[in-house]
Amino acid sequence: PDPGWTAEADAVIIGSGVAGLSTALGYVRRDPGARAVLVTKDVLDSGSTRWAQGGIAAAVGPGDDPVAHMADTLEAGAGMCDPLAVHVLAAEGPAALERLVAAGTGFDRDADGGLQLTREGGHRADRIAHAGGDATGAEIVRALVAAVRAEPRIEVVEHALALDALPGTAPGGGPAVRGVTLHVMGEGERDGVGAVLAPAVVLAAGGLGQVFASTTNPAVSTGDGAALAARAGAPLADLEFVQFHPTVLWTGAGARGRRPLVSEAVRGEGASLTDVNGRRIMEGVHELGDLAPRDVVADTAARAMAATGADHVLLDARAFGAAMWERRFPTILAACREHGIDPVTEPIPVAPAAHYASGGVETGTDGRTAVHGLYAVGENARTGVHGANRLASNSLLEGAVFAERIAAGLAEDPPAPAAPAAPPIGAPAALADPAGLEELRTLMSRHAGVLRDAEGLERIAAHAASMFASGAAAPPPPGVEAWEATNLATVAALVVRAAREREESRGAHRRSDRPAPDPRLRGRPVRLSLAADGV
Ligand code: SIN
Repeated sequence: PDPGWTAEADAVIIGSGVAGLSTALGYVRRDPGARAVLVTKDVLDSGSTRWAQGGIAAAVGPGDDPVAHMADTLEAGAGMCDPLAVHVLAAEGPAALERLVAAGTGFDRDADGGLQLTREGGHRADRIAHAGGDATGAEIVRALVAAVRAEPRIEVVEHALALDALPGTAPGGGPAVRGVTLHVMGEGERDGVGAVLAPAVVLAAGGLGQVFASTTNPAVSTGDGAALAARAGAPLADLEFVQFHPTVLWTGAGARGRRPLVSEAVRGEGASLTDVNGRRIMEGVHELGDLAPRDVVADTAARAMAATGADHVLLDARAFGAAMWERRFPTILAACREHGIDPVTEPIPVAPAAHYASGGVETGTDGRTAVHGLYAVGENARTGVHGANRLASNSLLEGAVFAERIAAGLAEDPPAPAAPAAPPIGAPAALADPAGLEELRTLMSRHAGVLRDAEGLERIAAHAASMFASGAAAPPPPGVEAWEATNLATVAALVVRAAREREESRGAHRRSDRPAPDPRLRGRPVRLSLAADGV
């Protein structure tokens, strides 16, 4: 669409979770003359970060060190991590935590002022810092949003959906971006479709959980950043590794959309998982028992559900008692009680749900993508730190660590402006038909969930293609509904293509028709490009 208004900046950052907020703040801190525009689809504190419960991992505890954190991350990643990226994450983790403290985040502390640290699945040390008991993301966002609001060099544009990158040609040739088009859903100076012209576009738009019927992700997580990058010609990788969190509050078969998380930290403090008959399901499955890596626990829970015919398993944390529940997990306690469950006196019904995109837009450790001027960070990015299964509480950390690296690059080595070019490579010929969305979500949860097979994946691919065919035959009115549906159908098609291509089970990608890992596929990411492969 033609822009009705334009703005200019040195960098436009899309997304306002820990990754986007930290990039904007780090950039203006390092470059006093910088002008940044920070775009968010809802309001500043509406992204996934604010829902993060358990905490942020960093090797800061007594006896812990980044090498041990690196080892646990690599093990959870099931042979698919990029060791250099993991080294960066673990080594720069403690400094990232300090920056969050300096920005005003109030982490939970002992009486002597030291950080309280807990443990989650896959960690062999207590290295998870938390805030407000189980409201870590909300506290981080509170502090960073206040800092952004106080910074006049960051212009905030709320209620704005990023549509597409403005295409360019890099100074030395090759694809580039020159800014981004936006649809602002409000009234005022920046209303309707417009464009921010900037030599640097940073995608920090989060994940794609809303492509599933059941997810921990908020309504805004519709894969906008991944779809935009794909249309701009950037390769994506590891999309088959969607992580399913094993303990998401079971709120009934008909429930749709975001479901409340029951943090792994609850198991870190001693809770255990049983099937509906009271059998401990993690016993004998993994040496870490209930604190095995997340993919192992989700898979075991799904199998226990299939074996008993129940639509959930149970998380038993009655031993905590009322006082500990109130002090340590007030958010989860309130969510359970809101749904009629009292975890002080009864086990909590839980089931796996889509939680995190371990893959995304391929970047180096400097956050740059293959497209000149285009960067990606946080859940939007595939840095290689998560491999086939993200280690618990490495997500907030990834956002904080790699945001600072992008900020340093923008300040010290900004991209040279690109020359204007033709429309984006791979831009959709038509919008997808939003009428197919509910069916898409149902199919994704049923056939691209914890367990997949070729036949089910093919059904999803056909349905996503039919959404595009129907949109081409009778174009839906261009607007947020159609653009979000287009993004969701695009990422569904890409996730499914990656899942079909990976003919093995590894990490969070489990195929019932290929139940074993294939050693030949270890360390070989599935890379997809819309320009090369189409939707
Ligand atoms: C949790 O608190 O269990 C979620 C933490 C994470 O996703 O890493």
